[in-house]
Amino acid sequence: MIKREKISNILKSTNFNTEVTVMGWVKTFRNNQFIALNDGSCMNNLQVVVDFANTSEEILKKITTGAAIAATGLLVESLGKGQSVEVKAATLEVLGESDAEKFPLQPKKHSLEFLRDIAHLRFRTNTFNAIFKVRNALAFAVHQFFNERGFVYLHTPIITASDAEGAGEMFRVTTLPFENTPKNEDGSIDFKEDFFGRSANLTVSGQLEGELGAMALGEIYTFGPTFRAENSNTTRHLAEFWMIEPEVAFADLEDNMNLAENLLKYIITYVLKNCKDELAFLTTRLAEEEKSKPQNERSEFDLMGKLQFCLENNFERITYTEAIEILKRSKPNQKKQFKYLIEEWGADLQSEHERYLVEKHFKKPVILTDYPADIKSFYMRMNEPDEQGRRTVRAMDILFPGIGEMVGGSQREERLDYLKARMDEMHIPQDELYWYLDTRKFGTAPHAGFGLGFERLVLFVTGMTNIRDVIPFPRFPKNAEF
Ligand code: 4AD
Ligand code: MG
Repeated sequence: MIKREKISNILKSTNFNTEVTVMGWVKTFRNNQFIALNDGSCMNNLQVVVDFANTSEEILKKITTGAAIAATGLLVESLGKGQSVEVKAATLEVLGESDAEKFPLQPKKHSLEFLRDIAHLRFRTNTFNAIFKVRNALAFAVHQFFNERGFVYLHTPIITASDAEGAGEMFRVTTLPFENTPKNEDGSIDFKEDFFGRSANLTVSGQLEGELGAMALGEIYTFGPTFRAENSNTTRHLAEFWMIEPEVAFADLEDNMNLAENLLKYIITYVLKNCKDELAFLTTRLAEEEKSKPQNERSEFDLMGKLQFCLENNFERITYTEAIEILKRSKPNQKKQFKYLIEEWGADLQSEHERYLVEKHFKKPVILTDYPADIKSFYMRMNEPDEQGRRTVRAMDILFPGIGEMVGGSQREERLDYLKARMDEMHIPQDELYWYLDTRKFGTAPHAGFGLGFERLVLFVTGMTNIRDVIPFPRFPKNAEF
């Protein structure tokens, strides 16, 4: 194939009157003369000028929105508005036709809901070009951050027999037949006959295996897909999402919070520097969307302002107990506007409470620590009971404006006796997790880690509002299309 120049390079080029070949998809074709061509390398289109007098009618007819073409010609300075260069096509080839009547993407604004139904084609739009470029940059920044700090990128298993969160929201992995499924004498399924010789599932978190790595390699992180069979049809939940999970030996909750805050600020700085066009586009997009909202629901910052603000301010760090006091005294609680009123210490926080703390009270990211043990996982380090005998664990959740929980983590329970007691209390079988307990038997040490939901980060940085729009092919209840 002839070598093509990427449009992103051509738009920056000043090598006028040299011959170039470009390939891409037609966005629009005006007056049988001007093609707006996009090859995905950047959001901007290249103008390709067709010499229509010398181009056959047959070819002209095939230059339709969505068609793939190759054009070769001189790169010239453009006299037209909105672009500095253009290509005067001497030869033009239609690589792939696109029936204008049937191609779902017309040169006009489409709703995000409509685009979700045609997720296989939505990459062709400016919005999704921008989103997936930002997503890519964010992923790269994550790896760069950890690499610069000497963390080992550890690939924890996707198929596992353990339920890391102990929440039982797992997708089963099996090769057993649906009919005549092998059964034990008591009627239960005989997993000894199954592929792995035991029941297995898709991972909900790489944490437990990550801890094993950290207890030898010192500092590790995982960055992979995780799966939750929770029936949550919300704008914040996916059944398949990507999670970044660092785990650090010889670290406590304070270190953990610092690591998370530094990571988030590093990543945001990286995209502000490396995704200028995309963020400018997404800022305008969001501003337009905000216009349709009533004044009091509009946010005080535009997208760039929001990201900048997040960099310039320290995240507020408060305990769960302090948060409960704030929430109890809050207007929406007093006026009974919360759906779930905060009456007692121990209540699990709902997203309305998290949003109040972050968006109304502190107006910046908040790290909540030391949650009641009863609402958190078995592996979190137990605090000494407070004066009133209430039990809390060294957990932390990082809450973000517009998003809610972005990060969940904790210092881990490194004391074998405490850990065993907690597992018993929560009915978590010790024999199945013998390997996890072994790290507490052989050279246990304080350690801590967290999980950052990658799509929630992409949501925040792109200013999108539905998590289904920041992953190429979202999986959620009753949907696994594409
Ligand atoms: O709070 P979670 O459940 O924590 C864990 O899985 C720990 N094992 C992490 C660790 O300490 N290593 O999940 C962590 C983060 C949440 O804060 C949220 O950002 C995201 O993962 N998350 C989801 N994102 C999209 N869809 C879902 N269904 C999610 N569930 C959690
Ligand atoms: Mg959580």
